[in-house]
Amino acid sequence: MPGTIHDLDTPVPLVDVDRMHANLRRAVEYCRAHGLAWRPHAKTHKSPALGAEQVRAGAVGLTVATPREAEVMARTVDDLLLAYPPVGAAKLQRLMALPERVRLTVGLDSAEALRGLARAARQAGRRVGVLVEVDAGMGRVGVQSAADAVALARAAADEAGVEYRGVMFYPGHVRDAVERQDEAIRALSDRIGGVLEALHGAGVAPEVVSGGSTPTFWRSHQVAGLTEVRPGTSIFNDRTTAEIGACGWDENAYSVLATVVSVAVPGQAVVDAGSKALSKEEIRADTAGYGALLDRPEIVVKFVSEEHGLLDLSRTGWRPRIGERVRIVPNHVCVSVNLHERLYGVRGDDVVEVWDVEARGR
Ligand SMILES: Cc1ncc(COP(=O)(O)O)c(C=O)c1O
Repeated sequence: MPGTIHDLDTPVPLVDVDRMHANLRRAVEYCRAHGLAWRPHAKTHKSPALGAEQVRAGAVGLTVATPREAEVMARTVDDLLLAYPPVGAAKLQRLMALPERVRLTVGLDSAEALRGLARAARQAGRRVGVLVEVDAGMGRVGVQSAADAVALARAAADEAGVEYRGVMFYPGHVRDAVERQDEAIRALSDRIGGVLEALHGAGVAPEVVSGGSTPTFWRSHQVAGLTEVRPGTSIFNDRTTAEIGACGWDENAYSVLATVVSVAVPGQAVVDAGSKALSKEEIRADTAGYGALLDRPEIVVKFVSEEHGLLDLSRTGWRPRIGERVRIVPNHVCVSVNLHERLYGVRGDDVVEVWDVEARGR
């Protein structure tokens, strides 16, 4: 293991371990205070050691999005929710090949996906849990009405090989600043409340109502009937989360260490972290750019090409030297992590942990 960050070549992702543990503690305390089960999404860190750490800290299990994430997380965790419709023989085969001890639940929104899953489960001699996914307003996946949720819940309850466990939704459309989420949270709560009422009335009351995201995390208790939350980003946070006010800037645990390689063009400095280290994800808040410096958040990465990141120096008197290193907080941490093979856990400049990003790829 490298001794300090000075032994690492750049660009390289760093995780401030004390901040990460503080983020985990805050999540656990919030969930305990509000009687919510915490099932963090592993897509953010993609590391089985960090998944195990979340379970040690109090998670009931993990959420995953891909068979690869399920396979990797199954090494250290035995309760997984695949929050993605498992369509196609290849995906189903991989899911059924997970170790027997894994209690698997799957979120889906169609009779086709349900039948395919049930058939695969029967063939494999497994019992797989099902959550009916409801579109809570994002318009991505999820059944569109309470009546459709009831129909799919009934089908799941009747289908051999699977076990109907409840409903899930993802409020990915709520990206307002936390203090401006009142209306969106009320609408969410009403929409989910209507679905829950219909399910109760139809005799398919859900045992699990799984929702949550990082931007809405701290307001999850205001959504009626919720039993479980699945924030992913909140283990590390990122620039978007801070802009939304769902974390403080000093709760950012993840940054990409980069080196200044050019100051030839006036008003900017170029670092060796571009879209292949930070990602080119637009910020979904009121500001522009692709990231900001951890220690100088007013300095923004104004442009990225693959291997170049352009720091905007127009609003600062700071002039970095060639070779100087900076820590950049990307807009969206999950996509940045996925670009790296390894995360380096640091305390100050000391490297104290190394985690392989094992669930990258398919
Ligand atoms: C289905 C689902 N659940 C949970 C999450 C985690 O949300 P966040 O990234 O806001 O932490 C995501 C993120 O994309 C998701 O797609």
